[in-house]
Amino acid sequence: MDLTQLQEIAQHERAAQKPIQIRCCVAAGCLSADSLAVKQRLERVVAETGLGDKVQVCGVGCMRLCSQGPLVQVAESTLYEKVTPKDAPAIVATIDTDGEMFHETSLHETSLQRGDLTQPFFTQQMPIVLENSGKVDPERIESYIAAEGYRGLYHVLHEMQPNEVVEAIAQSGLRGRGGAGYPTGLKWATVAKAKGERKYVICNADEGDPGAFMDRSVLESDPHRVLEGMAIAAYAIGANQGYIYVRAEYPTAISRLQIAIRQAQRLGLLGSQIFDSPFDFKIDIRIGAGAYVCGEETALMASIEGKRGLPSPRPPYPAKSGLWKNPTLINNVETFANIAPIIRKGADWFASIGTAKSKGTKVFALAGKIRNTGLIEVPMGTTLQQIVEQMGGGVPGGGVAKAVQTGGPSGGCIPASAFDTPVDYESLAQLGSMMGSGGMIVMDESTNMVDVARFFMEFCMDESCGKCIPCRVGTVQLHRLLTKIRQGEASLTDLELLEELCDMVKNTSLCGLGQSAPNPVLSTLRYFRDEYLTLVDGSASRYCDLKAR
Ligand SMILES: Cc1cc2nc3c(=O)[nH]c(=O)nc-3n(C[C@H](O)[C@H](O)[C@H](O)COP(=O)(O)O)c2cc1C
Ligand code: SF4
Ligand code: FES
Repeated sequence: MDLTQLQEIAQHERAAQKPIQIRCCVAAGCLSADSLAVKQRLERVVAETGLGDKVQVCGVGCMRLCSQGPLVQVAESTLYEKVTPKDAPAIVATIDTDGEMFHETSLHETSLQRGDLTQPFFTQQMPIVLENSGKVDPERIESYIAAEGYRGLYHVLHEMQPNEVVEAIAQSGLRGRGGAGYPTGLKWATVAKAKGERKYVICNADEGDPGAFMDRSVLESDPHRVLEGMAIAAYAIGANQGYIYVRAEYPTAISRLQIAIRQAQRLGLLGSQIFDSPFDFKIDIRIGAGAYVCGEETALMASIEGKRGLPSPRPPYPAKSGLWKNPTLINNVETFANIAPIIRKGADWFASIGTAKSKGTKVFALAGKIRNTGLIEVPMGTTLQQIVEQMGGGVPGGGVAKAVQTGGPSGGCIPASAFDTPVDYESLAQLGSMMGSGGMIVMDESTNMVDVARFFMEFCMDESCGKCIPCRVGTVQLHRLLTKIRQGEASLTDLELLEELCDMVKNTSLCGLGQSAPNPVLSTLRYFRDEYLTLVDGSASRYCDLKAR
């Protein structure tokens, strides 16, 4: 494969496109609402009405407004929501027989539900990671190549030295999207410099946070983008083997990755002598072991090595001693999905988006008490207000948003009074929460914040691997205390104990799971202490007296 052949594939793909495309979402959310049957019916109706040479029905990835699925988009301008197979004739009837014009009259006679592509949910997004999502066919490499796919990989292999690639990623300001926001360029530079017989690249697709589905969607909608990002990383750090560790509960993502890897190998874009260069890189899939802690990098590597997925103390960090004690680069799905656009459009372009310390965009899975549930990709620095009220459309039924939970079990609850906060790593941490991987759960006045803290503590308690005592025993005790408080059986001393225990678990646990498990409790205590106080015996003033002693 050379550049001319790549361009030929792209041109051929574009030339084969019919004047009108009917795109049907075949990502997991819509698939679960029977979108495959919708797609098949659309194909049949197009064939029956003789429009086959003008109209093309394609399966595409997530169109982002998942709660309204199955979604179908006709050309660029028309979106239909909650489509059923029965709606297929009405959709096709909106296309004139010359295949170019739409007529809307038939719409009024059907139950077809029109979506609004001009609403802020769509217009305020800035798709970089999701630029192909809902547009390319995730099961056809040609579709990705027509969208400039693998151009970034070609560019680095033929026009850049590995250290220049590392430098470009560092200059872009990209930070890891898996949770902690570690600078990606710095991590790549450390692995590139590390000495080892072999080096590895791992894509962390374990995505275990409740409410998070960004990584799943990227893999289901645009798997080649992740493979390309991994291959660029491998060239930059000097690795020839990569692994994608993907959770077993994502069968569609796994199957699309398998297809994508096979296709890329067939075209010489993975495997030996990629793009006729001396660079070899192979990617294998490893299925997650079903535990949240396996997303923690040291546990994940133990799991790949065939051992039980238990975290280990760091240092040594994976960058120096990772998989089978070799230097290993481990990045999140979304981190890798940002790489190809940075190479294609330049580090300065990426660095011009976002805030001073948080560059680019972030994908969030918006869920909870919110009108528009789905995926959003916004520039770093967008305020929570904009996300919840404008893009999310606020709480359904005229309710009022009370808080947003970000960062999953490691994060915290941000009250509505702080909704003018820009979303970036530092601002969220200052509020006692964290960016995390991108789950964003909106709560309204009906939500009891002690319940929220208890829910996340139960999750951590169940998912604790048990290796260290503070987390194994501490999460159980914290959960017991929260239950006691919720049942109205706790005293003010219990509340004090809760805070002390949070402090102990946070500071003495071995890995990030235990270290961050108290965060939802601490943040709800910080902003919603009244809700705890009304549940324990005694008044707020008595509690203050107790604290003052
Ligand atoms: C309990 C726990 C679970 C984690 N789960 C994930 C996960 O599912 N996906 C992920 O990318 N990172 C997860 N992480 C963070 C990883 O350890 C690691 O920091 C990350 O994959 C690095 O990638 P990045 O630099 O691109 O963010 C988890 C960390 C902890 C402590
Ligand atoms: S903090 Fe929890 S999850 Fe992490 S090693 Fe200790 S027991 Fe296991
Ligand atoms: S899964 Fe179909 S719109 Fe998200």
